[in-house]
Amino acid sequence: MLSPPSLLGALLLLAAPSLGSDVCQAPPIDHPGTAFSYVQPENTTILSTYGHSPAVYPSPKINGTGGWETAMHKAKQFVNKLTSEEKAWMATGVPGPCVGNVLPIPRLNFSGLCLQNGPQCIEEGSYSSVFVSGVSAAASWDRKLLYERANALAEEHKAKGSHVILGPIGGPLGRSPYNGRTWEGFAADPYLTGVCMEETILGMQDAGVQANAKHFIAYEQETQRNPTYAPDANATTYIQDSVSSNLDDRTMHEIYMWPFANAVRARVGSAMCSYNRVNGSHSCQNSYVLNHLLKTELGFQGYVMSDWGATHSGVASIESGMDMTMPGGFTVYGELWTEGSFFGKNLTEAINNGTVSTDRLDDMILRIMTPYFLLGQDKNYPSVDASVGPLNVDSPVDTWQYKWNFTGPTNRDVRGNHSIMIREHGSASTVLLKNEKNALPLRKPRNIIIAGNDAGPLTQGQDTLGDFEYGVLANSGSSGACRFSYLSNPLEAISARARKDGTLVQSYLNNTQIVETGLSSLAIPQQPDACLVFLKSYSAEGEDRSFLELDWNANAVVEAVAKFCNNTIVVTNSGGINTMPFADNENVTAILAQHYAGEETGNAITDVLYGDVNPSAKLPYVIAYNESDYNAPLTTDVKTNGTWDWQSWFDEELEVGYRYFDAHNIPVRYEFGYGLSYTTYGLKSLKAKTMAPKNITALPKKQPVQPGGNPALWETVYTLEAEVSNTGHVSGYAIPQLYVEFPSSTPAGTPPSQLRGFDKVWLRPGQKKTVSFDLMRRDVSYWDVVAQDWRIPTGKFSFKAGFSSRDFRSTLNTTLVAA
Ligand SMILES: *[C@@H]1O[C@H](CO)[C@@H](O)[C@H](O)[C@H]1NC(C)=O
Ligand SMILES: *[C@@H]1O[C@H](CO)[C@@H](O)[C@H](O)[C@H]1NC(C)=O
Ligand SMILES: *[C@@H]1O[C@H](CO)[C@@H](O)[C@H](O)[C@H]1NC(C)=O
Ligand SMILES: *[C@@H]1O[C@H](CO)[C@@H](O)[C@H](O)[C@H]1NC(C)=O
Ligand SMILES: *[C@@H]1O[C@H](CO)[C@@H](O)[C@H](O)[C@H]1NC(C)=O
Ligand SMILES: *[C@@H]1O[C@H](CO)[C@@H](O)[C@H](O)[C@H]1NC(C)=O
Ligand SMILES: *[C@@H]1O[C@H](CO)[C@@H](O)[C@H](O)[C@H]1NC(C)=O
Ligand SMILES: *[C@@H]1O[C@H](CO)[C@@H](O)[C@H](O)[C@H]1NC(C)=O
Ligand SMILES: *[C@@H]1O[C@H](CO)[C@@H](O)[C@H](O)[C@H]1NC(C)=O
Ligand SMILES: *[C@@H]1O[C@H](CO)[C@@H](O)[C@H](O)[C@H]1NC(C)=O
Ligand SMILES: *[C@@H]1O[C@H](CO)[C@@H](O)[C@H](O)[C@H]1NC(C)=O
Ligand SMILES: *[C@@H]1O[C@H](CO)[C@@H](O)[C@H](O)[C@H]1NC(C)=O
Repeated sequence: MLSPPSLLGALLLLAAPSLGSDVCQAPPIDHPGTAFSYVQPENTTILSTYGHSPAVYPSPKINGTGGWETAMHKAKQFVNKLTSEEKAWMATGVPGPCVGNVLPIPRLNFSGLCLQNGPQCIEEGSYSSVFVSGVSAAASWDRKLLYERANALAEEHKAKGSHVILGPIGGPLGRSPYNGRTWEGFAADPYLTGVCMEETILGMQDAGVQANAKHFIAYEQETQRNPTYAPDANATTYIQDSVSSNLDDRTMHEIYMWPFANAVRARVGSAMCSYNRVNGSHSCQNSYVLNHLLKTELGFQGYVMSDWGATHSGVASIESGMDMTMPGGFTVYGELWTEGSFFGKNLTEAINNGTVSTDRLDDMILRIMTPYFLLGQDKNYPSVDASVGPLNVDSPVDTWQYKWNFTGPTNRDVRGNHSIMIREHGSASTVLLKNEKNALPLRKPRNIIIAGNDAGPLTQGQDTLGDFEYGVLANSGSSGACRFSYLSNPLEAISARARKDGTLVQSYLNNTQIVETGLSSLAIPQQPDACLVFLKSYSAEGEDRSFLELDWNANAVVEAVAKFCNNTIVVTNSGGINTMPFADNENVTAILAQHYAGEETGNAITDVLYGDVNPSAKLPYVIAYNESDYNAPLTTDVKTNGTWDWQSWFDEELEVGYRYFDAHNIPVRYEFGYGLSYTTYGLKSLKAKTMAPKNITALPKKQPVQPGGNPALWETVYTLEAEVSNTGHVSGYAIPQLYVEFPSSTPAGTPPSQLRGFDKVWLRPGQKKTVSFDLMRRDVSYWDVVAQDWRIPTGKFSFKAGFSSRDFRSTLNTTLVAA
C-alpha cells in the first residue's frame, strides 16, 4: 500500500511560488540559525516511496466555509486596520505572562491572546482544578464525560484569561508503548481518539475558549524530536536533524490523520505542527502536510501554530502553511533559548522586499483572528490573571516587552464545584482488569493492608510534579504539569471509608522496606481480608520510557505482599501501558488501572473498591504478556552522525496497537476494549436497523470541502442495532463496541478488526436495551491511494459487536456496494 510518488507528484506538485531562492535550495547545514537561509527542501530524503513529501503550493486561503463566514468578515475588518509590522508580530509570539502570547494592540482595543497549557489543568495554575488525564478520559469510553470535562476545564481557563488551550492531543497516538506522553492524548486507536478529540473540542469551544489540535502529525516519539546542536558556538551549529516519521499515504489517512479530521470537523480554532519531520521535511514547513492534507483535503479554516521551537525557517514555513510561530520572540535551539525569531522583524523585512506576499500575511492574520471572533472573544473576555505570569516558565517577567494590562483580581479561584465531577470521572475511568474469588467490591473487611509508595500523600513537594518516590501519581510533568490545591490520596480516602466499618488498617508505603523485610514481620500475625497495593509508572514529555514495568521495584512489591496475603488487590497509577507479570500470581485476586486520575484520585478509587461505583471503563490500548511482544520500536541510539540519519520507518503501516496483535494472532494479557464490571452483560441480535443500502456508490460524491473534508464522508450510510442486557445482579454501564472486518477485496495490510462504534448504556439487573451504531461513509471506507479518495470496497463486510476487540458476541455479514 505504498503511495505512488510519481502519481502524487503529478497531482500535487504544483508550481512553487517565486520566492527567490529560499524554498528549494539545498540546506546550508552548517549554519541553521540565519534567518531564511536554512531551509530543508521538501524532497531531500527519497529513500523509499514513502519517505518523500511532495511540494504543494500555494497555501490555501481561508474562505469561511462551514459557518465561519461572519467571523471571517469581522476578522477582515480588524486586519484592514493593522500595519504590516503589527501583522508580522501577530504571527510571532512575544514574551508575556502566558505560555504563548500574541501582542496586545491597545489602539484597536485588542488585548492580545493568551495561549496556555494544558490538557489536564491550567499548567501550574493556582486555585484551579486538576481533571482526569487524557488517557483516563479515553478509558471511560464516555462521550458525555469527555465533553463535560473539557467544558469545565475551559471554563477555568477562560476565568483565568486564556484564549487558547494548547490541546487536545490527537498525536502521539501510541504507535509505541514507550512514548512518554501518550497519557496526555487518548487511545491507541484513531476512531476512539477521533471521538475524544471531537467531544473535547466541542466542550472547550462551547465554553468560549479556542482549542488547539496537536500535534500535527505523525509525532510518535520524544527521542530526537528536536534537532541536536553543537554545545559550543551559541548553539547554532547543527549536528543532527529531528527524527523523520516516514509513513505511507494510506497509513497517514487511516491512522494518524483520522483523529485530526474529527478535530477539524469540530471546528477547532488552531492546529499545532509538531517537532518531528514527516517524510523528510519538518512538519512545520511541510507543504504537503499543511497546505495539502490539513488546509485543502480537510478544509481547515483556523491557523497553524508551531510547537514551541519547532520552526526552522521563515519563508519556507510561511509558504508551507504555518501561520504563527511560537514562542516567537525567542527561538529554541535544542535546550537553549536565544532571542530573535525567523518571523518578527525578519518577516516585516521579507514583506517589504517582496519575498513574502502581503496576501499570504493577511491570510495568516485572518486565520488567527477568525476563531477569536467566532467564539466572541472580542466581547467582555476576562483579563489574564496576573498570577499566571510568575508561574510561566517560558518567558521570565524581565523579558516581557509589552506592558500587559492586568486588571481584575489575581489568584482567582476558578474551581467552582468541579471536584464533584472529577471524582465521578476518576471512577468512571478506572479499568477493572482482574477480579477473582469475589475480591471486589470490598464488603466490610475487618483487617486490610494498604501498601506501596503510590498510596500516600505527596510528602516530597508538589510544585513541579516529578518522578518522586512517595505519593500518589495523579498527573505528570512538563507542559502537562498541574498544581494541586489539594490531592485526595488513597491512604487517606480508604482509611476514612474503613473507619465507618471499624476496619483495622495497616499501611506500609516504603517499597524497599516491603521487599527487604516482607510483611510477615511488619503486620499483625493475622491473614488480612485484603491487601491493597498502589503502584505507579511515571512518564512525561521530553523523554520516552525505557521499560514498561511499573516503577520502584513494583513487581517485587506485589510478590512480597502476595506472599503474605492471599487477597492482594493491585491498583496502578500510570501514564499508559505496563506489563503485569503479577497478574499470574494466585494471590493477586484483582487489578485496577486508574491512570492519572487528577485531584480526586483517592476518593475515586475508594468509590470503586467499595462498590459505590460499578466500574465500566475499558482499556484504550493492549496489555501484552511481554515487552517484546510489541511491534513498532522507537528509533533510538542512531550511531551514525549524518545530518538526516534519524529516520523512523512506520513499516508496520496500519498495524498499530491491537491491529498488529490481531493480524498476527498474538495472545495478549488484556486486549483493547477490555474491562470488567461487578455485573455481567449480554449482547445479541446484531442486525441492520434499516435495509442495507445495496446501491451506494463506492466513492463519495464530490462536494465542496467543509471543515472535516468532503461532507459525504460524514454521512451515515448504514445503521446497525443490537440488544444488550445486564445478566448479573448489580446495575451498571455496559459499553458495547462495534468492529468492522473489511471485505477480502480491500488491499492487503487491512487489519482484521477495527473499532467503528461504541455506546455506553445504563442497565439494571435483567434490563435489556437496544443500542444502535451509525456507520458513516468514512467508517466503511479505506483510503485509496490511487484515487486519492475514500473507497467502500466490494464484497462481504463482517460487523462484529461485543465487549472488547476480542470478545465478539454477535456478527452480521453484508455487502454495501454493488460489485
Ligand atoms: C523535488 O522533486 C521534484 C519531483 O520529483 C523535482 O522536480 C524537483 O527538482 C525536486 N527538487 C529538489 C530540490 O530536489
Ligand atoms: C487596560 O484596561 C483598562 C480597563 O479595562 C482599559 O481602559 C485600557 O485601555 C487597557 N489598556 C490596554 C493597553 O489594553
Ligand atoms: C556567543 O555569543 C556571545 C554574545 O552574543 C558572543 O560574545 C560569543 O562570541 C559567542 N560565542 C561563539 C562561540 O560564537
Ligand atoms: C473553501 O476552501 C476549501 C479549501 O480550503 C475548498 O475546498 C472549498 O471548496 C472552498 N469553499 C468555497 C465555498 O469556496
Ligand atoms: C532574524 O532571525 C535570526 C534567526 O533566528 C535571528 O538571529 C535574528 O535575531 C532575527 N532578527 C530579528 C530582528 O529578530
Ligand atoms: C528579503 O528579506 C529577507 C528577510 O530578511 C531575507 O532573508 C531575504 O534574503 C530578502 N530578499 C531579498 C530579495 O532581498
Ligand atoms: C525505606 O526503607 C529502606 C529500607 O528499610 C530505608 O533504607 C529507607 O530509608 C526507607 N525510606 C524512608 C523514606 O524511610
Ligand atoms: C499465597 O498466600 C498464602 C498465604 O495466604 C501463602 O502461603 C502462599 O505462599 C502465597 N502464594 C504466593 C505465590 O505468594
Ligand atoms: C485466604 O486464606 C484464608 C485462610 O487463611 C481463607 O479463609 C480465605 O478464603 C482465603 N482467601 C482467598 C481470597 O483465597
Ligand atoms: C562522522 O563519522 C565519520 C565516520 O565515522 C567520521 O569520519 C567523521 O569525522 C564524523 N563527523 C563528525 C562531525 O563527527
Ligand atoms: C439507492 O436506492 C434507494 C432506494 O431505492 C434510492 O432512494 C436512492 O436514491 C438510491 N441511491 C443511489 C445512489 O442510487
Ligand atoms: C460472517 O463472516 C465471517 C468471516 O467470513 C464468518 O466467520 C462468520 O461465520 C459469518 N457470520 C455469519 C453470521 O454469517
